[in-house]
Amino acid sequence: MNYIQLEKLGEGTYATVFKGRSRTTNEIVALKEIHLDAEEGTPSTAIREISLMKELKHVNIVRLHDVIHTETKLVLIFEFCEQDLKKYMDQHGERGALDAVTVRSFMYQLLKGTAFCHENQVLHRDLKPQNLLINRKLELKIGDFGLARAFGVPVNTFSNEVVTLWYRAPDVLLGSRTYSTSIDVWSCGCIFAEMISGTPLFRGRDNQDQLLHIMRIIGTPSDAEFQKIARDSPEIQLKTYPRYPPMPLQQVLPKASPLAIDLLEKLLKFDPQERLSAHDALSHPYFSSTAAAPFGINSSPGSMPPPSYNYPHPHTGHPPPQHQQHVPQQGHPQQYSRTMYNQQHPPAPQHAQAQAHAHVQAQAQAQAQAAHAQVQAQTHGAIPIDPRAMYGTQQYGAAYGHGGR
Ligand SMILES: Nc1ncnc2c1ncn2[C@@H]1O[C@H](COP(=O)(O)OP(=O)(O)O)[C@@H](O)[C@H]1O
Ligand SMILES: [Mg+2]
Repeated sequence: MNYIQLEKLGEGTYATVFKGRSRTTNEIVALKEIHLDAEEGTPSTAIREISLMKELKHVNIVRLHDVIHTETKLVLIFEFCEQDLKKYMDQHGERGALDAVTVRSFMYQLLKGTAFCHENQVLHRDLKPQNLLINRKLELKIGDFGLARAFGVPVNTFSNEVVTLWYRAPDVLLGSRTYSTSIDVWSCGCIFAEMISGTPLFRGRDNQDQLLHIMRIIGTPSDAEFQKIARDSPEIQLKTYPRYPPMPLQQVLPKASPLAIDLLEKLLKFDPQERLSAHDALSHPYFSSTAAAPFGINSSPGSMPPPSYNYPHPHTGHPPPQHQQHVPQQGHPQQYSRTMYNQQHPPAPQHAQAQAHAHVQAQAQAQAQAAHAQVQAQTHGAIPIDPRAMYGTQQYGAAYGHGGR
């Protein structure tokens, strides 16, 4: 092989991922080795899916450079990213929760990548923090593409990562087979909430339990709503569910700004047809409002200058948006979170469910107060960053240009 295998980066559902270096160019890459069943070889669907992925070129989608196919294994050569979003949240977040500016940047990039897939008739079907990669420029890239569809069931029995239901849409949990792009939008909503709070929003143990977790927060649909969902997807078998009223999301995520809550509500609609599309979500005022990105709740307003960095990073070669020019230069968001939070707050352990609930409730109380104080004190705290301005149309035009399939 033309690549030297370096240390192991991760083990997922289907494969083991190593860091690698090209013997010819010295470029650092990620080598994803898919273990093949000796008798069955590579499923043809996998090959087809992977070939399609090679054409899916976008700045927010991890780039597949090459595919090496031998008798015993299939190795996919990807662009290298420093870490996945799960590890990023553990390391840089305050108990997993990211600061508002980073959440907004990552969310924008996640939706941008998702919208691009959907425009190209690709569903991801397994969006979750472990499948989103973050590079050192703080670019978010959707990874682990197509394999869910290519392989169906996980093949890697060594993996201790269980296929998680936490990001799965309620229509899929109900047994819908007519689902579409809206299932990825649901996952985006779950990831959004998790970046804000540091804790997965719905942590069910199995299908049924997952549905109950969802209903406890967003409310049980009315009979009429259930009937509509069943009409749209006749294969769904409805059971009787407890009638939960919707919880105000602001109570569940006290840290979130009102615009973040509004966007989240539109992403987490029980009825898939009511969910915003990834494309439309990008135009939500959350991404353009100057009031949507307050400081982290632990910072007293006024004690810290507004972060002037912009997505992805001032020295990545992206032209800074015009309205940023008057803001004095400040630190890097990574330094920022490290110095502000990281040493004082070690990464959250994998919570047990009860612990997580207690955590969310305790957070809810403490943070509601902090958020209230913050809003009152924050007369000058708005950060005029419009992530859409960060992506010049020219830049994106170029990225999109190669994209169709
Ligand atoms: N391009 C990459 N750069 C760096 N790390 C990666 C890359 N791709 C995957 N990883 C790491 O390996 C893990 C498993 O990779 P993934 O593609 O999700 O495989 P699986 O299909 O087995 O879940 C990821 O969660 C991530 O931590
Ligand atoms: Mg994965």
